[in-house]
Amino acid sequence: MYILGIESSCDETSMSIIKDGTIEVATVVLSQMDTHAYYGGVVPEIASRMHIENITLVLDEVLKKANMTMDDIDGIAVTYGPGLIGSLLVGLMAAKTLSFIYNKPLIPVHHIAGHIYANNLVKPLKFPLIALVVSGGHTELVYMKEDYSFEFLGGTLDDAVGEAYDKVARVIGLPYPGGPNVDKLASLGEDTYDLPLPLNDESYNFSFSGLKSAVINLVHNETQRGNEIIKENLATSFQNRVTEILVKKTIMALKNYKVNNLIVAGGVAANKGLRMHLKAACDKENINLTIPDIKYCTDNGAMIGAAGYYAYSKGHKADLSLNAKATVELK
Ligand code: KG4
Ligand code: ZN
Repeated sequence: MYILGIESSCDETSMSIIKDGTIEVATVVLSQMDTHAYYGGVVPEIASRMHIENITLVLDEVLKKANMTMDDIDGIAVTYGPGLIGSLLVGLMAAKTLSFIYNKPLIPVHHIAGHIYANNLVKPLKFPLIALVVSGGHTELVYMKEDYSFEFLGGTLDDAVGEAYDKVARVIGLPYPGGPNVDKLASLGEDTYDLPLPLNDESYNFSFSGLKSAVINLVHNETQRGNEIIKENLATSFQNRVTEILVKKTIMALKNYKVNNLIVAGGVAANKGLRMHLKAACDKENINLTIPDIKYCTDNGAMIGAAGYYAYSKGHKADLSLNAKATVELK
């Protein structure tokens, strides 16, 4: 079964053709990163306009790359939420139009299910599993007993981890997107700053706004006193606190649910510190860890095509009344 996966929830216009939920036939990702970098973050109105300009080009390109036509496609999977409403609508309208014209099933995919199923393109998911989803909009722990069954365990109470990275980057003068830049700097420094370990409790929830504020206050106070900030060290201290709490709660979930498969998903899964610390913890606890290649960590149509295959086999099908949702529960 060939599924066309469409993703446009934030600042990437992407489509992919995926065979049987596991094989990537062709993918095109058009990133708007350079445009938004100028403003220091994603500007929703600009994002929607750029999706409109790019969506048909991306469709032509992905079909050309795969050497296929729409007649070869068996289903159209699309991110319907969560995300920026204007951006989501562009991908959704494209999907609905294609579904209507070519009479192909329309498959609604939750963006986070997509991030999780990006791992299926690396190696088939093994159940039961715990998924740690870390991105610019999400920090979530999800339990999956079987394919396309999601139990939300906990998530961030305020900032998502990627969001905290982006804000910390800005206050220490690093360009957008901040996450990769803080990550790079963190590998050069030492953990010398006394920052709090956020929401260090027995729940599966996270909170990063206190840690972010601690960094901002520290920078302001030191600057006012005329003291220089050692940016590398501050990046290391921040990254260590973030990874420590993410690893701690993830291992706690694995133990409590007696699960030994862990997958990591979302843009922050590219973080070198997080990868290293998770690997060490999983080796120690005998847990099978899968983290997708960096190209599958950030938003792309391939993950939507992969998730779409399993969504469809579980009976998830939408009609043309399907609407975009800025926020929507994963289930
Ligand atoms: O999954 P994604 O592409 O988009 C969302 O759905 O949010 O994630 C983007 C987020 C951004 O906040 C970016 O700064 C962060 O992922 N990110 C990183 C790294 N690479 C991307 N954060 C920390 N370390 C990285 N290496
Ligand atoms: Zn994402």
